[in-house]
Amino acid sequence: MRILRKPEDLPRTGPRPRGLVPTMGYLHEGHLELIRRSAAENAETAVSIFVNPLQFGAGEDYETYPRDLERDARLAEEAGADWIFHPDPATMYPPGFATTVHVGGPLTERWEGERRPGHFDGVATVVTKLFNLVRPDRAYFGEKDYQQLQVVRRFTADLDLGVEIVPVPIVREPDGLARSSRNVYLTPEERPKATVLYRALLAVREAAAAGASPREAERAGARVLAEVPEFAPDYLAVVHPETLEPLQEWVPGARAIVAGRFPTVRLIDNMEVWNP
Ligand code: PAJ
Repeated sequence: MRILRKPEDLPRTGPRPRGLVPTMGYLHEGHLELIRRSAAENAETAVSIFVNPLQFGAGEDYETYPRDLERDARLAEEAGADWIFHPDPATMYPPGFATTVHVGGPLTERWEGERRPGHFDGVATVVTKLFNLVRPDRAYFGEKDYQQLQVVRRFTADLDLGVEIVPVPIVREPDGLARSSRNVYLTPEERPKATVLYRALLAVREAAAAGASPREAERAGARVLAEVPEFAPDYLAVVHPETLEPLQEWVPGARAIVAGRFPTVRLIDNMEVWNP
């Protein structure tokens, strides 16, 4: 597997279309599903592995974020990747770096944007740089990070980046827990309880199907969350699938989003809860 570290090493020519799967590494089935989709739909697939310091806040896990390049390279190759872009932080952000891509408006003010100030600026800036460096025709993003997906769609359209954004459904463990690089932080006691996010989302969907209003459905989800006292919820909400504004009435594709903290790790999840 070719691992390219410098912008000048990246292939300017080559088979098209080219797909890009941006990741922070420590690859799991979720990432691998994105890579497989890209490999199936494009003549060439690049995977970027870069733990982006710009999107981590003070007190978050930048230093301890899990890393294993050798294993990642093997898994990416098996899933169909053609090469990996793995730059150093100093390559991406050399001395004097001073530009930020900021997505404004309600899309970034709520939910993750509110709990993680600057996070989406960091994501938008690095993804814009990755698009400009790798020059993909398509880029693959998981619905796991649902608000991130909508933010990426927004600045890609606003800045005419010319990359087709392809969403990929959430890959879950057999018990429903959404796959995440951060699941390794869960203690053996916490791990079975971590299904509470998924179970709360199912409760919202069931309430919706039974005729509840969005508010009532949120309350059904909150009751499930309350069964696990170790989990401190940040939010559970029924939102519009594109704007992420809270819904008073159901719209097709309505999404429930949930986030919160176990003592060792913060988890997020989401689900489509209404599609008549
Ligand atoms: P990372 O958390 O490594 O995730 C990389 C991609 O994999 C994202 O698009 C994410 O939504 C997707 N993904 C993660 N878990 C998934 C799951 N269980 N099912 C489906 N897709 C899943 O997201 C980032 O990195 C960064 O913010 C990045 C976009 C790379 C910018 O730094």
